[in-house]
Amino acid sequence: MTTVIESPQELFERCELVRRGGGKVGFVPTMGALHEGHLSLVRACGQYGSDFRVLSIFVNPLQFGPHEDFARYPRTFDADLARCREAGVDVVYAPSVAAMYPAGFSSQVEVSGITGWLDGEFRPGHFRGVSTVVLKLWNAVGACVALFGRKDYQQWRVLSRLALDLNLPVQVVGADIVRETDGLAMSSRNRYLDASERARALGIVRGLRAAYDAYARGERDPAGLVALVRKPVEAAFDRIDYIAAAHPDTLEPIALASEAMVILVAAHLGGTRLIDNLELGRDPRP
Ligand code: PAJ
Repeated sequence: MTTVIESPQELFERCELVRRGGGKVGFVPTMGALHEGHLSLVRACGQYGSDFRVLSIFVNPLQFGPHEDFARYPRTFDADLARCREAGVDVVYAPSVAAMYPAGFSSQVEVSGITGWLDGEFRPGHFRGVSTVVLKLWNAVGACVALFGRKDYQQWRVLSRLALDLNLPVQVVGADIVRETDGLAMSSRNRYLDASERARALGIVRGLRAAYDAYARGERDPAGLVALVRKPVEAAFDRIDYIAAAHPDTLEPIALASEAMVILVAAHLGGTRLIDNLELGRDPRP
């Protein structure tokens, strides 16, 4: 049985019942338009000892820039609910914008350092919006294991930092990227792509595969690996925000040869911005 809850008090009471009974709450925050990437997080709850699964659907205005896609972001609540039922979600938490941000709302939370570049640089205010809404969602759920996709690699690291820094009773987990059969990382924004853009989007996959193969052959120079990713992305995309090598834990830029490295990409195809990444030495070939 999947229950839809709109009020944070009601959600907290429901989760509190689970905890009092010795259960562990698993929590998957989303903005809806659900796909296999989201549902893989629901399914992974069991691996972390959680048998009560909460998924939130909230398109968070605070994390979109003024010229971004908040207004046209896909809203597919009925289809999302059907997928949640199928996946065995216990509670769908779907608060309204007015309930989340009532008149007079004026508190936000900011994680510094790790948000200073990559998406933090190209989407000013984005991580403040994400951190604020996720902290509110965590407070509504209470103690839980919270699952995030490594697709949004920097987001996962920022939120891990937030939970640690503020002593939140939340175990933050980062789960593997789910890809389409041709390698494109699943994303709610993929539905913006027309047929030609969908084909061009594979430029990122070709780039990440080239880096994977070079790393497998022993290449460890971050600049060389980034250049391999850049070539096909530059050929296929209209604009690149960044292609960068960073340390997987801290996300600090890497300049010297290194075993541990994540390569992160953000680029635009027409009006659509796609992101992807590969943690070398850890992730499978995309
Ligand atoms: P959204 O983009 O809906 O993503 C919700 C969760 O699903 C995030 O943790 C994201 O990393 C994960 N996800 C998306 N595509 C994935 C894929 N292909 N493989 C694995 N996981 C994937 O991220 C957000 O929403 C918002 O910023 C949110 C955290 C909900 C705050 O508003």
